[in-house]
Amino acid sequence: MTLAFPFGKNDCQANAFLKELPMMNETITEKPDFDFENFTFGVQATDQMLVAKYENGAWSNFQIGPVKNISLSPLAMCLHYGQTVFEGLKAFKTTDGKINIFRLESHFKRMNRSLERMAMPALPASCFIDGIRELVSKESQWVIDDPEYALYIRPFAIATENKLGVDASHDYLFMVILSPLKAYYNSPLRVVVETNYIRSAKGGAGAAKNGGNYGASLLPQQKAKKEGFDQIIWLDSNEKKYIEESGTMNIMFILNGKTLLTPALSDSILDGITRDSIIKLAPELNLEVEERSIQISEIIDRIASGEQVEGFGVGTAAVISPIKEISYKGDSFETYVQEDAGMYRIKEMLSEIRRGIRPDPFGWSDLV
Ligand code: COI
Repeated sequence: MTLAFPFGKNDCQANAFLKELPMMNETITEKPDFDFENFTFGVQATDQMLVAKYENGAWSNFQIGPVKNISLSPLAMCLHYGQTVFEGLKAFKTTDGKINIFRLESHFKRMNRSLERMAMPALPASCFIDGIRELVSKESQWVIDDPEYALYIRPFAIATENKLGVDASHDYLFMVILSPLKAYYNSPLRVVVETNYIRSAKGGAGAAKNGGNYGASLLPQQKAKKEGFDQIIWLDSNEKKYIEESGTMNIMFILNGKTLLTPALSDSILDGITRDSIIKLAPELNLEVEERSIQISEIIDRIASGEQVEGFGVGTAAVISPIKEISYKGDSFETYVQEDAGMYRIKEMLSEIRRGIRPDPFGWSDLV
């Protein structure tokens, strides 16, 4: 590592954490020299990052400092066997000028579930939660007041022990970087149902946010793009009949403006936090929620018989991404994307809660 770790080990107990966190940069309040109107998501990190190290059985050496390259031995285990986990969450500017880190605690819990699945050590709440709060408040100049904008927060952990034997690493790094984000997708998507490759199998690691799930999705996604599609709908691994997810998002449907339908969670489907938020908001829009197995043929038959079917991908980065067309075995089916579609109302509600315009009865807002 080229990053210095000058501080002694601590066991990251709640109070110890912030006390021992060395702040290498003072908070900067000026708006950065960055074109907030025109930019590509994910190619630009903000100025500071959080780093922590796990060795000898404990997380320690937490630092917030300037974003730097890291150097790893070519033997580092994350480079070989995919022991990596990440999260994605967002910070918003509320209309009264505060910063809202949306569903921070839920993301912390999911990070630890993913770490457990990948045989990696859990992070203490004080480190993930207090560390992200501290980092975001130091980078507050990157959270601008724009309903389309959010500061994307990317916590991630990687195995750093130097060893080629296939085993769980003893050493890890946890890092948090931040990156500006507007719309992840700019217009309604054309998606193709993938009938050959699968994203994840029962008993696999599909419910974890580990890098391998995303790596394995790239080739099918590349092929779909070559055929003119924006994303894929994944089917189950056993029968290739049941809908699982869409690209890197959970998938939902609204049937005839009345029913919010989404695949029930399983160990091959990510427990999406945006998915959960939408399910909890649905009753306010008089939508009945159905979480169950959904055969792709059911959706196709409903569209073909003239029902009003909205389809949309949901995720932290993509929020709610309308699907305008589903291609299945060479035939195309149009979904409902008119202005009065329920998915736009849900998106608006979510945005209003995040920006503090609408009350947050669920306690999702973490204000810094
Ligand atoms: C997210 O929505 O945070 C994701 O994980 C999607 C993607 C940027 C990988």
